[in-house]
Amino acid sequence: MTELVPHPRSVVAAPGEVRLTARSRLDAGAGTEGVGHWLRTVLGQSTGLPLHEGRQPGDNCGDGVTLRLAAGLGPEEYRLVSDRHGVLIEGGKAAGVFWGAQTLRQLLGPDAFRRAPLDRDRSWAVPYRTIEDAPRFRWRGTMLDVARHFMPKEGVLRHLDLLAAHKLNVFHFHLTDDQGWRIEIRRHPRLTEIGSWRARTKTGHRASPLWEDKPHGGYYTQDDIREIVAYAAERHVTVVPEIDVPGHSQAAIAAYPELGNTDVIDTSTLTVWDTWGINPNVLAPTDTTLRFYEGVFEEVLALFPSEFVHVGGDECPKDQWRRSRTAQARIRELGLAGEDGLQSWFIGHFGTWLAERGRRLIGWDEILEGGLAEGAAVSSWRGYAGGIAAARAGHDVVMCPEQQVYLDHRQDAGPEEPVPIGWVRTLEDVYRFEPVPPELTPEEARHVLGTQANLWTEVVEDQGRVDYQAFPRLAAFAEVAWSALPVPPERDFAGFERRMSVHYRRLDALGVGYRPPTGPLPWQRRPGVLGRPIDGPPPIR
Ligand code: ACM
Repeated sequence: MTELVPHPRSVVAAPGEVRLTARSRLDAGAGTEGVGHWLRTVLGQSTGLPLHEGRQPGDNCGDGVTLRLAAGLGPEEYRLVSDRHGVLIEGGKAAGVFWGAQTLRQLLGPDAFRRAPLDRDRSWAVPYRTIEDAPRFRWRGTMLDVARHFMPKEGVLRHLDLLAAHKLNVFHFHLTDDQGWRIEIRRHPRLTEIGSWRARTKTGHRASPLWEDKPHGGYYTQDDIREIVAYAAERHVTVVPEIDVPGHSQAAIAAYPELGNTDVIDTSTLTVWDTWGINPNVLAPTDTTLRFYEGVFEEVLALFPSEFVHVGGDECPKDQWRRSRTAQARIRELGLAGEDGLQSWFIGHFGTWLAERGRRLIGWDEILEGGLAEGAAVSSWRGYAGGIAAARAGHDVVMCPEQQVYLDHRQDAGPEEPVPIGWVRTLEDVYRFEPVPPELTPEEARHVLGTQANLWTEVVEDQGRVDYQAFPRLAAFAEVAWSALPVPPERDFAGFERRMSVHYRRLDALGVGYRPPTGPLPWQRRPGVLGRPIDGPPPIR
């Protein structure tokens, strides 16, 4: 039961095992108390063992768990030793100890992932091992789009548990889009009163003839957000909020029509968008808009301690700006290079604004067009090219190319696959993804902070579908993000599949509705017009 996912840097096995019993103790040293609390809670639930605090009198009974900070290890690095003295997990910082504690849970077997013990009399064994481990990348991210389909708070907390179980440490929270605004902003209440729900929803991709004629919506209160951020922090996951500007903003314009290009269209007639695609109704590049969003970001900064704040910047059609006298006057007044220069100015404004507040801007790779403020970082989604250009220009990069790691894309070409969009990207494709392109010199490659898998939810309408699209591919992605490259660099997919046979049982115990290797279960299929295989150009949302 020691088939670990993601694979650690080194494992040495020895004969024997540590037996955890009702008298076993959990001793969390200075700086590791939070990890101790988490471990006692999850193992308490699954095993029923109390794991009392502190050391055993007399000690060295060999049946306890000890957590310690250790000098000489990197912040997320850990060493786990289980031997006749018990289990010792040491980490450079609490994060390292936490990842070691996640490894311990895997060593205990799949039932350690349940919420209650199946059998209170069973014994729990940790095989003797020496594991040395550290992540390859510091940014091991996933993005979840809660704007197209809302994920209630409980589902977000559960999703965070799943990320942490795979040693992923960044949750990019896509909170706003044309189809919904999902975060309470106290000074602009209509963003959620109006912007958080839509009257109906296109079912399937945008060419589908079907609608669901039922309101869809939801949002997180500021207390919900504080809870999500705190829950993530306990699991050493950083939440990076995204407020998407100046495109993908129709929900905000529906709530506050003055944010749109009022000299081009009557923005007071706009509603929260009910279909998919790239929306022409973008923000007006006015002082009113800038002040409005500074207010939004002020509240966002107070809620999210993350160094990085994502401002979107993707897919902003320029047609309304071309036709707007106000936008054209601004271009002339500032001497900008046309509408692209206007977008760059808009993003640059928030780059400076964030930097003045000690934060760093990150945006989709379109923000490179027209130049980027120093310190800003790029999510490279339209392939590797944006990331390569950004790294060469000295900007940090998160590699998340849609061709490889967009998890809304289909996992198989079969007719039963439920999502009729995107390229086919199998578990093996994701496993073989390499975040650092060979074109980069070692110096440039240092700008690759890491990698991220993105899950857009136009056709992913609830938690079950999020599970299906994310898993098992997120397990493969976690290994890409965490595990050191093998030398030579060919990844051992057969070995991964072998370890996955155990990992599926962990996912079963966690109640994850993953795609089974044999294909979707009857209730995971979506036959008919929406499940038709795509023969044309792949990604149409
Ligand atoms: C994106 O997929 N529009 C970033």
